[in-house]
Amino acid sequence: MRLLIYCIFFTQILLACRNSDSVISVPETPENVYIEQHRPQFHFTPEANWMNDPNGMVYHEGEYHLFYQYYPDSTGWGPMHWGHAVSTDMVFWEHLPVALYPDSLGYIFSGSVVMDHGNTSGLGTDGKDPMIAIFTHHNMDGERTGTLTYQTQSIAYSNDNGRTWTKYEGNPVIANPGIKDFRDPKVIWDDVFNRWVMVFAAYDKALIYTSADLKDWTQTGSFGIEGDTRLWECPDLFPMTVEETGEIKWVLITSIQKDAPNGGTATSYFVGDFDGEQFIGDPNNQKWLDYGKDNYALVTWANIPESDGRTLALGWMSNWQYAQVVPTEAWRSAMTLPRSLTLHQMGDDYVIKSAPVKELEKLRTSDARILSAVIKEGLDLGAIVKHDGLLELDLTFKKPESGLIDIHLSNELEEYVSIGYSADDDIFFVDRTFSGKADFSDDFADFHIAPRMRNSEEVRFHIFIDHSSVEVFADDGLTSMTEIFFPNKNYMNFTINTAINEVELLEGKVNGLQRIW
Ligand code: FRU
Repeated sequence: MRLLIYCIFFTQILLACRNSDSVISVPETPENVYIEQHRPQFHFTPEANWMNDPNGMVYHEGEYHLFYQYYPDSTGWGPMHWGHAVSTDMVFWEHLPVALYPDSLGYIFSGSVVMDHGNTSGLGTDGKDPMIAIFTHHNMDGERTGTLTYQTQSIAYSNDNGRTWTKYEGNPVIANPGIKDFRDPKVIWDDVFNRWVMVFAAYDKALIYTSADLKDWTQTGSFGIEGDTRLWECPDLFPMTVEETGEIKWVLITSIQKDAPNGGTATSYFVGDFDGEQFIGDPNNQKWLDYGKDNYALVTWANIPESDGRTLALGWMSNWQYAQVVPTEAWRSAMTLPRSLTLHQMGDDYVIKSAPVKELEKLRTSDARILSAVIKEGLDLGAIVKHDGLLELDLTFKKPESGLIDIHLSNELEEYVSIGYSADDDIFFVDRTFSGKADFSDDFADFHIAPRMRNSEEVRFHIFIDHSSVEVFADDGLTSMTEIFFPNKNYMNFTINTAINEVELLEGKVNGLQRIW
């Protein structure tokens, strides 16, 4: 085999670097936490109990805040709180106490946080800008008694970097006009019109409101797909610069609650313009940020400094079809890896590419390079690098004339996940049909596909494998697929499978990764 493998183990060096980096705070955790079966090792999970959507993601004074839908009393969904964690790098997380508790107006559903620069709300103290959380109050009594008005938008403020919060006494700031699903506000500052813009979901569309002070809001716009009655959730609206031309376009993200491309729930987006009041885009040009089954409610971080300039986002790594019954015991659900989104011109259309953030490179513990190889009898990727079932693969193949590129994760119980590209159909796929535990839902074990967006002679996969998930960024992030799985034993074998056809690997990198807890 024309195969040249360079294996260099950097373990010692990297660990030494991390130890000397005193700004990273790794939380003290009780023994036996984070080593349970299926526990993600480098993805964010709560120490215990139920989590869903990421909320209130904001960067401030060196900290990335991650709030999240949290039920601290059970591993199933229940009265929603906002859990809270901070990180200096989006990789290593420190858990903080619950930020927002349910109150007389209801549970605390999804929403966002902004830094109120200039204290427009007047809720800051000591001449400092407050942090403002904008969220949905979900009133259970209202729901039980059959009213339509039980979801309203409210705010809370913090003057100590998000550590403690006070609910605004004038809540709700947006009353419900009689729309049953009326939730998930995301707010940004519009520096053309010098005012706040809020987007939130109202059943099958997104509504846009504006405000000078975060307290008094007026509706200015609405955007939906005529005749499409799927439920929208967790929208986000923000400008992006087209990488190739420098043009500014606006992106409206919305999560869709059923009938996503591979079934169930997924995150979609539209690219268009924003005139200060209304999003102007083609409702029939809906695209998917991730074709895998497990990336929902993805939203972007607020207040990323201009000097950084990235559009950073993450999503909830599950699907409402089975989120509540996945076979984890102490905790339930994880977040996706943080991603950097970029906007690109493609013909006369625009597409978003997703890439894992560069900060994740600090997870690498060992590194192997594979140079140009025609692989005829499989290639054992796991054998060439030190790993603990946690791997990053970066593999560029020559596009096969026919047949498959097939990357296999497996264990000795013959459970496997297959990730690849089918040349005959010109699609990417993740097959978790025989991935392990799956009897908890009829919607889990299956073969999932994604279209290939470009027509080049190279097919590239950038893949992150944790103990119960895989994130595939194909063709430089033009297509991404995020999927979870629950093998009875962790996958420790990683191969390029050539049972059907040989493939030509043009270039490859394999990294072992370290755990974050
Ligand atoms: C999305 C969602 C939101 C809601 C939250 C409740 O997953 O249904 O629309 O605010 O979860 O936990």
